[in-house]
Amino acid sequence: MNQHRLGVPVALLALMALTADATLAEEVASAAVVEASADAAKVERGRYLVTFGGCNDCHTPWKMGENGPEPDMSRMLSGHPQQLTLPAAPALGAGPWEGVWSATFTAWAGPWGVSFTRNLTPDEETGLGSWTEREFVTTLRGGRQRGIGRELLPPMPWPGIGQASDEDLAAIFAYLRSIPAISNRVPDPIPPALPPAAP
Ligand code: HEC
Repeated sequence: MNQHRLGVPVALLALMALTADATLAEEVASAAVVEASADAAKVERGRYLVTFGGCNDCHTPWKMGENGPEPDMSRMLSGHPQQLTLPAAPALGAGPWEGVWSATFTAWAGPWGVSFTRNLTPDEETGLGSWTEREFVTTLRGGRQRGIGRELLPPMPWPGIGQASDEDLAAIFAYLRSIPAISNRVPDPIPPALPPAAP
């Protein structure tokens, strides 16, 4: 009898403990699901913004396709191809034409010299792999590499892109983190040729 009266509450307690554990485990699991789907939504938002923002127009090398030039998505967002060395840009003489670009849409010559679109993939050595989200956001806000380095050259349209909200810039960064890393070391910009020395 005693045993019986004691036995019930012990069993009940054990059951309650089990249920509590199960509820906790369920909560943890569903929190993880919520977090994972929030991450997925952030990456998807970033993908949408990168597509809409035309990043592929300049950061993905273009190639000649069946219907004319098209971005080579096998090299998505990896910047100016390192093996593509170019001859000096043609001189345009006195305006109003001011700039020329390579067939890949990744090298840009103008009064600023020659700029090369950079590797935005998560490659550690040659892309944005070692950048923090903060460095990325401040780069697009202030137009300096990693937020504090040299000024970004044209035609990188950072003054417009930098108007996006912190949330959207973080989403772009999250998406750029999720794409395949491509090792491609983009050359440094070439400063403008000095004007001819006076005779
Ligand atoms: C019209 C061409 C063009 C478009 C469009 C463009 N970029 Fe750029 N971007 C450039 C060029 C050129 C550079 C390199 C400038 C330099 O070296 O000073 C650059 C540099 C950058 C850098 C600096 C990377 C580094 O290593 O210093 C980031 C970050 C960047 N772009 C992000 C973006 C994102 C994100 C988008 C789309 C929302 C975008 N760009 C759209 C041309 C463009």
